[in-house]
Amino acid sequence: MSQTSKHIVGISGSLRKGSHNTLLLQQAQKFLPEEYRFTLADISQIPLYNQDDESNLPEAVKQFAELCHSADGFLISTPEYNHQISGVLKNALDWVSRPAVQTPLVLKPIAIMGSTMGMGGTARAQTNLRNLLFAMNMDPVNRPEFQLSQAHLKFDESGALTDENRLKILQQLIENLAAKVGQR
Ligand SMILES: Cc1cc2nc3c(=O)[nH]c(=O)nc-3n(C[C@H](O)[C@H](O)[C@H](O)COP(=O)(O)O)c2cc1C
Repeated sequence: MSQTSKHIVGISGSLRKGSHNTLLLQQAQKFLPEEYRFTLADISQIPLYNQDDESNLPEAVKQFAELCHSADGFLISTPEYNHQISGVLKNALDWVSRPAVQTPLVLKPIAIMGSTMGMGGTARAQTNLRNLLFAMNMDPVNRPEFQLSQAHLKFDESGALTDENRLKILQQLIENLAAKVGQR
């Protein structure tokens, strides 16, 4: 692996098979520089946060925390559930925001995006998520904002995003993330 190789960890806020947010992450990773590695985190086995378990961390939490420690940057794609990010995403972030896992998120670059099947495109959920990034002392990419509405109409059968305008914005977002990660 080259010395400039960086590792980006992607987190989807939807566990749904065929999730558009997961598809979006798979699309986005194609815009990373060739020497960057990308890993899609599996947060499906992470139990509900319980402070009592911090003294004996669940295996899925340990694995997720290790993955986060190995990350130079993060990319989150979130759905919008009742104007907020999903519970599974908030739960996973809560676990790795804690000193018990040496808070592997602090000061790390992160880009966010999201998709809905309705018209909203996750604008409200992303505002909510940006507050969380501040609370967790992360280093967010602020622009461009990326929202995908009517997601069920915007992917082809192979799972590729077909909206040319969104693709350009997505590429810019990922280039900005890579630039921020590269400066560290
Ligand atoms: C519990 C729940 C609440 C939702 N609330 C909203 C909402 O507030 N705004 C919105 O635009 N879509 C809402 N949706 C629709 C989801 O954002 C939409 O299904 C999204 O595409 C799911 O992402 P996925 O394709 O990655 O699974 C909600 C869906 C669920 C299951």
